Parts: sequence; C-alpha cells; structure tokens
Amino acid sequence: MVHNGIEYGDMQLICEVYNIMKDILKMSNDEIADTFDEWNKGTLDSFLIQITADILRFKENDKYVLDSIRDSAGQKGTGKWTGIASLEYGVPVTLIGESVFARCLSSLIDERGRASTQLKGPNVQSFDGDKKQFIEYLGQALYASKIISYAQGFMLMREAAKQYGWKLNYGSIALMWRGGCIIRSVFLGNIKSAYDKNESLENLLLDSFFTDAINKCQQGWRKVIATATVYGIPIPCLSTALAFYDGYRAKRLPANLIQAQRDYFGAHTYELLDKPGEFIHTNWTGHGGNITASTYTH
Ligand code: 3PG
Repeated sequence: MVHNGIEYGDMQLICEVYNIMKDILKMSNDEIADTFDEWNKGTLDSFLIQITADILRFKENDKYVLDSIRDSAGQKGTGKWTGIASLEYGVPVTLIGESVFARCLSSLIDERGRASTQLKGPNVQSFDGDKKQFIEYLGQALYASKIISYAQGFMLMREAAKQYGWKLNYGSIALMWRGGCIIRSVFLGNIKSAYDKNESLENLLLDSFFTDAINKCQQGWRKVIATATVYGIPIPCLSTALAFYDGYRAKRLPANLIQAQRDYFGAHTYELLDKPGEFIHTNWTGHGGNITASTYTH
C-alpha cells in the first residue's frame, strides 16, 4: 500500500515539473524528454523518469500521443488507501494525500472547463530568466520533494509498526521496492544505506546523506515553488513537500494559538511549555465558568 502511495506521489511530482517546463519555460516535448533523460543519469535515475521521457517522445501519425490524452486521471484506490491510513494513524503523509487529491481535481474536467472561462490567473510576462539554471532548480525541487515523500511513507510504516508491535526491516523494504516495482530507482539504494547505518533512524531526513541532499537542493526548490506560484501553475506536491519540511524543522509552530482557540471556544484545555502533561483551562472571557471538556485528544 505504501509503495503504491509513493508511486502516486512520484508520478504527480513528475507531472508538476512537466507542467512547469511546458507552461512556464515553453519547452517542447522533445526538450522535456531530453531533460528527463539527463536527470535519469543522476540522482533521479528511476523507472518512472525513464518511461516519462519515452512517453513524451512517442508519436503516432506524426503527432505526440501525450498531447491528445484527456487530462483526467483515474485511480484504482491504493493511493487513497494510503491517505486514509495516514489520517487514521495521525501521520502527516501530506504529499501522497495531495497526489490523490490532484487526481480527484483533474477528474473534474468538465467543471474545470467551465471555471477556466471565469476564474482569472495572474497576469505575468513570459519567462525571461536563465532557463538552463531554472531547469537545474527543477531537478533539485523534484529530488527534494521525493525525499520528503519517501520520508513520510516510512513515517507511516514506523507508526504502524509501533501500533501493531511489528519489527520492520526498513532497509529491506527499500531494497524490495527496487525489484521490478514501479518506483524502482537508484534513490532506494540510498534509503537502504541510511537504515544500514542506523536501523532505528527516527526519520530519513535525519540521515546525513538526506540532510545534505536537501540542503543542496533547498535554494532551487524554493525558487521553483515561488516561480510556479507567481505564474499560477498548480504544484500541490512540490509545495506541500516544502511546507512539510519547514514544519518538521520548526522548533516552534503556531499550534499554541490553536490550543488557545480550542480552549477559548470549547474549554478543551492546553499544556504549558514548561509543564507538559498538565492540562489547564483559562477562563478567557471572564464568564462561562471553569468547566473543561471531558476528553482530550492530541
Ligand atoms: C498499479 O497499477 O501500479 C497500481 O495498481 C496503481 O494503479 P492506479 O494508478 O490505477 O491506482
């Protein structure tokens, strides 16, 4: 299930960079295919990147087949299953979730057609930046987001293992996914090495190989997201990956305010930073008494 969820994420990430190359950089199918071929020689080397290059070049009757395929994605449900499990176990597997919703949004094809005649996007000039540099940034954004997606998938398995008392061998799982699977890639070997180094690794992002990789990609990743946003190109997976990264590395998040709001309207109580485990209620309005909600859930 997690393999297939990750597959959904990888596919959507590839679609987002394809969209950017096509609609912002105005690249032809062959140019995009050449870029994927180039990426396939490095850290992004994978079956999905390789078939994407083949698909982009494929012609029938002198016409690119890809360009006449209806942009409404189907699904048999394994990505949705991963999303449901993530919500069930309370694990922020945001990228796979977004990839499922991106397919759902694509399938509203008639409604989108009608909306496109009324809802305006930004008014922007054609791209006049350094195209070669930006393509490099795109590769970095794809790689960094992929790291986040796999880290999230492994977080889900780790939580399930905790809840069911399973002893999972995460390195072997990564290795297994290299054998004939849709997500087979060089990258899975790096995941295997991370778990070989430390089998109780708390999160893939904390392995030095992945920490360094994200650091190297970070500038390009942010530039791609900023540019796509300015141009009005939808990038649900690239952007949720970065939002997750910025949230995961944050010592402080604004959830203190959520707790205060919950306590204000529902007397749901909150904990103080220096007294975790002790739940208190504040009478925020001066009326309404000191009654607290009877159940507390994180
Ligand atoms: C597959 O064929 O690899 C999976 O079943 C995914 O299929 P789907 O994209 O139709 O869900």
